[in-house]
Amino acid sequence: MKKIFVTGGAGFIGSAFIRLVLDETSDVEIIDFDALTYAGNLDNLVGLDENRHKFIHGDIRNREAVLNALPDDCDAIFNFAAESHVDRSIHSADEFLTTNIIGTQVLLDAARAKNIRRFVQVSTDEVMGTLPEDDTAFFNEDSPIQPNSPYAASKASAELVVRAARETFGIDAVITRCGNNYGPRQFPEKLIPLMIANAMNDEPLPVYGDGKNVRDWIYVEDHARAIWMVYEKGKSGEAYNIGARNERQNLEVVTSILDSLGKPHSLIKYVTDRLGHDRRYAIDATKVENEIGWKTQTTWEEGLAKTIRWYQENQDWVERIRNGAYRDYYKKHYGMEVGTV
Ligand SMILES: NC(=O)c1ccc[n+]([C@@H]2O[C@H](COP(=O)([O-])OP(=O)(O)OC[C@H]3O[C@@H](n4cnc5c(N)ncnc54)[C@H](O)[C@@H]3O)[C@@H](O)[C@H]2O)c1
Repeated sequence: MKKIFVTGGAGFIGSAFIRLVLDETSDVEIIDFDALTYAGNLDNLVGLDENRHKFIHGDIRNREAVLNALPDDCDAIFNFAAESHVDRSIHSADEFLTTNIIGTQVLLDAARAKNIRRFVQVSTDEVMGTLPEDDTAFFNEDSPIQPNSPYAASKASAELVVRAARETFGIDAVITRCGNNYGPRQFPEKLIPLMIANAMNDEPLPVYGDGKNVRDWIYVEDHARAIWMVYEKGKSGEAYNIGARNERQNLEVVTSILDSLGKPHSLIKYVTDRLGHDRRYAIDATKVENEIGWKTQTTWEEGLAKTIRWYQENQDWVERIRNGAYRDYYKKHYGMEVGTV
């Protein structure tokens, strides 16, 4: 059995990754280390094979806890753990800097102390800033690192500490930079689940600015598979951009959700734009396609339909979140109660 250490495995992408690895391999055991912040959810881990998945509650900023949880014979660390929501980083950056940067350094130190074979840093296209609206420019692996939000700055800094650990200590590390994910179990503060949840409840759908910001959307399972393949085949020291060549304006995403649910476009409510809102992200995935042999498998239409179906069939999951501390965040951010934006 191969052992891997996954941080942030109770979150949206980490739990999708764990599900995929357990489903598609038979010789991998997973230690899932997660602090269970507001975004971590043990409901995301229900039904996993308990013989091959062990959950440990812990914080990546806590050196002793990480060293205690990380087995000596571990093959790799996959670092998903992060504060991940741009809007929250605009309200306060503190947790973003400590978890995303210091936490990554603690994991790198632990990888060195225990001689872990490979370190996989799950990063984001947002480290590369924003693109002009014309459709000829794409992010590639040579694009400059120029983050625009506190979240993106913390993820860019994390990439730099990974790079430094490799250059200084020879840590074997690869970095993945993916675009916007969507799929089951995404916390409903993010665009797609927020819009699905509000539309299902006939509540207003808050759209920032003119709604024309462009994101490059990928189904979460395709991202998870790319991370696994980069771990298996990626070259140490390299970054790989991951994207499904699926650029959509926010307004198009929102109207597709309303149409799928048979809800009126009059539910759309334009709200004050996010500060420093990046205009367009678009990823050139040629390197991961050619070097690693990864390709996206899920079309936008299939992925969105599967996602909407999951939220329809799991309304308890959504309501447990909407009835919890999320209400306070929603009120602080949009100035109104959940459901009354
Ligand atoms: N969501 C996206 O579209 C997207 C795109 C590209 C990259 N990423 C990156 O993928 C990773 C996962 O994103 P996500 O959307 O699943 O995020 P998420 O917010 O859903 O989950 C983050 C998880 O990390 C855990 N966590 C937070 N702080 C921790 C700490 N100090 N110690 C241990 N665990 C901690 C949380 O409890 C949660 O389970 C992040 O690193 C993010 O930057 C996300």
